[in-house]
Amino acid sequence: MRETRLTPHDFILPLFVSEKLQERREIQSMPGVYQLSLNDAVEEARQACALGLQAVLLFGIPAHKDEEASGAFAVEGIVQQAVRAIKAACPELVVITDVCLCEYMSHGHCGVTRRDGEHFHVLNDESVALLAKTAVSHAAAGADLVAPSDMMDGRIGAIREQLDAHGFEQTGIMSYAVKFASVFYGPFREAAESPPQFGDRRSYQMDAANAEEALREAELDVQEGADILMVKPALPYLDILWRVRDRFGKPTAVYHVSGEFAMVKAGAEKGYVEERAAVLEIMTSLKRAGADLIVTYWAKELAQWTRE
Ligand code: PBG
Repeated sequence: MRETRLTPHDFILPLFVSEKLQERREIQSMPGVYQLSLNDAVEEARQACALGLQAVLLFGIPAHKDEEASGAFAVEGIVQQAVRAIKAACPELVVITDVCLCEYMSHGHCGVTRRDGEHFHVLNDESVALLAKTAVSHAAAGADLVAPSDMMDGRIGAIREQLDAHGFEQTGIMSYAVKFASVFYGPFREAAESPPQFGDRRSYQMDAANAEEALREAELDVQEGADILMVKPALPYLDILWRVRDRFGKPTAVYHVSGEFAMVKAGAEKGYVEERAAVLEIMTSLKRAGADLIVTYWAKELAQWTRE
């Protein structure tokens, strides 16, 4: 009678690769999740593959940040190195790269910014040009899919055009089509060392109150050439996930984000909820609500739990 079944193929494992580390370092607010050295990242990818996971999602933490995000598109950038090393070690594993500038910008915003006194602006088109350049550099390193998470307007079209122009017609785009400005990204900003140094992300991420706008955002990404649409965060936005899956019929992903992870971990540590049962219930509800793919920090555990 059971309508929804979880399998290891449903999950994508995020990995944080740091250019600064020689050995792994646990993220305080995310027990069991680490910033990894290049070698550790390859080891994690190997394990993911052995456990039956299909895909990893890479985030880079560069040694140097600047106001042009030059580390984001450097040939020897940390993500580019990690993609090459992981594809060499596990050719059958799908490698997806996060395309964003926040980790590489000294100010921590997802795009190029201009400050006038008290106010700052994110410059959309200048940012899109750098994002497209970043996506091409990831594809050149061997990424199977690029995943733009910045929320600038027009970036999917620009990335598709630049990928094609450089001969990467086969590289897919998993778009963070609907990304809400959320309190639940807090722990990630520690993990990726990317908190904004001034202002917040509300001028480019979405208002939690807006569902119609979410559908308009997703529609633009479909028109511009997204292969997979993503909704983020997960549990507070099940209605959006359902509507996006239902309306566009595209492969749809959901990102169960760092704050959602941290809450369950904290509850489990206090003995208030049982971790495994809670995680399986959450993941089942995400799949039931339309997710074809789930990005989760529990991907490795789930690969085991869903087999047992
Ligand atoms: C931005 C980005 C963020 C996340 C993924 N990509 C953070 C943000 O927008 O502040 C959050 C993921 C999570 O919280 O697990 N590059």
